[in-house]
Amino acid sequence: MRIVILTGAGISAESGLGTFRDKGGLWSQYDLEDVATPEGFARNPDLVQRFYNARRANCAAAVPNAAHHALARLEAALPGQVVIVTQNVDDLHVRAGSKAVIQMHGALMRALCADCGHRWPAPATMTTADPCPHCARPATRPDVVWFGEMPYQMEDIAADIERADLFAAIGTSGQVWPAAGFAEAAREAGARCLELNLEPSDVSRSFHEHQYGPATQIVPAWVDRVLARTRT
Ligand code: OAD
Repeated sequence: MRIVILTGAGISAESGLGTFRDKGGLWSQYDLEDVATPEGFARNPDLVQRFYNARRANCAAAVPNAAHHALARLEAALPGQVVIVTQNVDDLHVRAGSKAVIQMHGALMRALCADCGHRWPAPATMTTADPCPHCARPATRPDVVWFGEMPYQMEDIAADIERADLFAAIGTSGQVWPAAGFAEAAREAGARCLELNLEPSDVSRSFHEHQYGPATQIVPAWVDRVLARTRT
């Protein structure tokens, strides 16, 4: 059985990392245009670096929760059959032990040279003046995908969705494309589609089944059910 799991900010909420669109979420505190677009970075790089430095510090202080651990357990029990496609830039899936993880919106813990494209582990505090270790130019930015930029590994994701028997979306509002369209694509490709979220997402109609509740409760229970089914 091939399982593709799309995750969003909701899976990391109970690890203390804020979501974007819930009450009090990041996009009610910051203007997305200022901190998550190439134009915002060109206008005020220091503001953008401060925003991601703070998020990187929060991420470093957070630990994976029961939902991240349950997904790692699923992959360990079904090696080679589980892929996580995450919109999250935190590293909690990897720290929980998941191996097949595609970070389609990039990674807070990586730096990217805007000039030559070189990538390296992000320092705790990043500035645009930091020289690139490869070309030495001062063009350092967080290796995160901003609005208007192309998400990473789209071809790999499309191939995984095409082959999926089961598609689950966890903790994502379905408001950001292309990820919001993955459930419909998986459904058309013949996968059974399940939404696991606190509340119905904007694309809940794309799913065959729904489970609503906090990720730390509903995800471990779902993993138990999948594993029970694969053992019978
Ligand atoms: P959102 O903040 O848009 O949605 C989070 C979803 O998680 C909501 O539907 C919540 O109901 C749900 N949720 C909250 N707490 C939960 C919990 N404890 N358990 C289960 N579900 C919970 O976040 P995303 O959908 O991830 O992109 O946002 C997608 C993208 O928009 C992000 O990757 C980011 C953002 O702008 C970029 O920055 C490019």
